[in-house]
This record gives sequence, C-alpha cells and structure tokens, in this order.
Amino acid sequence: MKYKAMSLGVALALAVPLAWGEASVEEYRAALADKDANPGLLTIDKGEILFKEKRGPKNASLEKCDFGLGAGKIKGAYAQMPRYFKDTNRVQDVESRLVTCMVKLQGFTEAEVKTHVFADQRSNEGNTDLEALTAYVAYQSNGMEINPPLKHPMEKETLSLGEALFWRRTGPMDFACSTCHAEDGKRIRLQPLLNVLNKKDIQATMGAWPTYRVSHGVVRTMEHRMWDCNWQMRTPDIDYGSPAAVALIAYLTHQASGGVYDLPGMKR
Ligand code: HEC
Repeated sequence: MKYKAMSLGVALALAVPLAWGEASVEEYRAALADKDANPGLLTIDKGEILFKEKRGPKNASLEKCDFGLGAGKIKGAYAQMPRYFKDTNRVQDVESRLVTCMVKLQGFTEAEVKTHVFADQRSNEGNTDLEALTAYVAYQSNGMEINPPLKHPMEKETLSLGEALFWRRTGPMDFACSTCHAEDGKRIRLQPLLNVLNKKDIQATMGAWPTYRVSHGVVRTMEHRMWDCNWQMRTPDIDYGSPAAVALIAYLTHQASGGVYDLPGMKR
C-alpha cells in the first residue's frame, strides 16, 4: 500500500465525521477532492491484513478464495463481478462471495459471519471485517474497466431481475428505485440523486464504490447502499448478499459497464 502524498493530519481530520457546523461547505468539498488523503486507504490496509491472516475454526486465510478468476486470483476479479459461481450455483457479488469463502475456507458459520456486517455509524468502532475485506478485494481492480460477465443464463436472469426490481414500486410510500434514480437533476435537500439511466453518471458512481463516507466516518460498500436505499424507501431491511440485493447490484453494475474503477471513492 502506498500513501503517496497522504498527509496524516488531513487523514485524521477526515477520519472523524465532519458535522456541518464545524467546517464550511467549501472546506468539506475540498477535503472530498483530495484523493491521497482518503482514509479509506487505512481500511484497505486493515482488509489486507484480515485477508492474509489465518482465522476461524479451520485456521485458514482467504488467500485461496476464488472470486471467479481462479483460486487466489484477486487482481481484476472485482471488475468482473457480480458473476455466476458453479460451487454455489448462484450469481454472487464480492460481498456474498466473501461470506462463502469465510464459511468454506475458514469454517465460520454463515450466521457468525453475518452477525455484524455494517459498522455502526454512531460509534467509533471503525469498519467491520466484511467492509474492510470488501474494500481490499475491490481495490485490486482499481483503474480497471467495469466489465461484469453476461454469458451464463443465471447471469442474464439476475440482470433482468435487478432491472425489474429497479422499476418495481413497493412499500408504504409506493417508491421504486426509479422514483429517485431515473432522471437528471433530481435532488433531496442538497443531495443530487444518481440517474442510473445516465451512462456517465452511473459509470462515475459505480466506479467510486466501495467509498469512504465522510458523514459515516467509515468505508461503505454496495451492499450497505442497497440496505440504505431500502431504508429510503421505508421497506424492510434487504438481506446482506440476498438474491434481491445481488440482482440490484448486478443491474447497477451492468448499467455502468465500460466505466473505470477509481478506488476507494470518497463521498458525503
Ligand atoms: C426516496 C428516494 C430514494 C429511493 C427510492 C432510492 N434511493 Fe438510492 N439514494 C437516495 C439518496 C438520498 C442517496 C444518497 C445521496 C447522497 O447522499 O449524496 C442515494 C444513493 C444511491 C446510490 C449511490 C449514489 C452515489 O452517488 O454514490 C445508489 C447506487 C442508489 N442510491 C441506488 C438505489 C437503488 C438500487 C434503489 C432501489 C432499491 C434506490 N437507490 C432507491 C435516495 C433514494
């Protein structure tokens, strides 16, 4: 891991969530633009240590995990996910795949792995293991083209399921993802909303996830974003790595095909 010109002072300042009262909007935006000071780099380091450490009942590392390019090949793997996996007979995103490997290689139970998937925003606990591992694996595709495969019938089926879910109105507010994310120029308060149908917008967006969220003080992943936007819709929590979550992520990723990963991102 190279920090280039990363200034420790700036990194520490950013690692503490900024409140609107404490910094001007201009300072806040300038901090967001300084890539070398991205505290997400520290999370990636934590993820690398966890990835290589022998853990769990089987006392094994995750170095033999297969993310679709063969056991132990993580360079460029995230850029070609979600994808179909023969051993699980499922389409998986990077996060559900990490769960599979923690169960199969390290001997954890799925329930153990999933007890605490997202860092608590209000405590200072820092990123969870799954968030850090995801950030590390994703970072191995930095600078690469977003290129999820679409050969296997289940990959095609997952993509159409994701597209259907994107447009499907549901829940107490009768919202669909498309209610908020299918037009240019929409916003909620000061937050401009992503337009999933705008190629440039979705490419830049997906290329920046996992992303360091300044307001949360931790790196967030796409599974967290799906959980968060289901909360925006006031629907029940979406299960981590569930077929519905993976299908939505597959749809977003395919919309962003041809974009380039620029990781870790940094957002509000
Ligand atoms: C009620 C409006 C609303 C609905 C409905 C909604 N979202 Fe969002 N979405 C938001 C808001 C607000 C943000 C965060 C914007 C910010 O903080 O800059 C966001 C952010 C996102 C992002 C990250 C954008 C970025 O710039 O990084 C993605 C991806 C996303 N939503 C996908 C979805 C998907 C998929 C669904 C349906 C399951 C959905 N959203 C439903 C309001 C919504």
